[in-house]
Amino acid sequence: MSCHNGRDIGGQTFQKPGAKKAAPDGKDVGRMAVTGDTADRLMFKVPSLRNVEKTGPYFHTGKVATVQEAVRLMGEFQLDRKLDDHQIAEIVAWLKTLTGEIPADYIRQPDLPQ
Ligand code: HEM
Repeated sequence: MSCHNGRDIGGQTFQKPGAKKAAPDGKDVGRMAVTGDTADRLMFKVPSLRNVEKTGPYFHTGKVATVQEAVRLMGEFQLDRKLDDHQIAEIVAWLKTLTGEIPADYIRQPDLPQ
């Protein structure tokens, strides 16, 4: 889980979803849309895993409803590992230990571009 490291268990770096196995290519070019730098193509922020059981739905698409499915997809695309139900349950049990006070500014309605 080297990407989700540091005090906030992630939240500081950008990575390509599909580091080990190509993820389905969506229309969203990721950070390149902001920087214009082709090196940032398909790079997305590695989210903090603090309170992750409470902050679904998941991924930049918001298309993944459960944290179990998010973990399964992380194993498949970031680690090229097929995690079984027991492994997913153990990782989710650990992720639930990261639940605490949710900073208000973390869940505040974002100022969306007009
Ligand atoms: C077992 C190991 C891992 C677990 C349990 C895990 C867990 C998660 C979870 C739960 C999310 C969704 C968070 C959210 O949407 O709020 C996520 C997103 C993400 N993770 Fe991981 N992760 C793991 C390994 C990795 C690795 C190795 C990398 C980097 C190579 C990585 C990079 C990312 C990125 C870039 C996202 C955002 C994807 C997007 O928005 O489309 N993760 N991870």
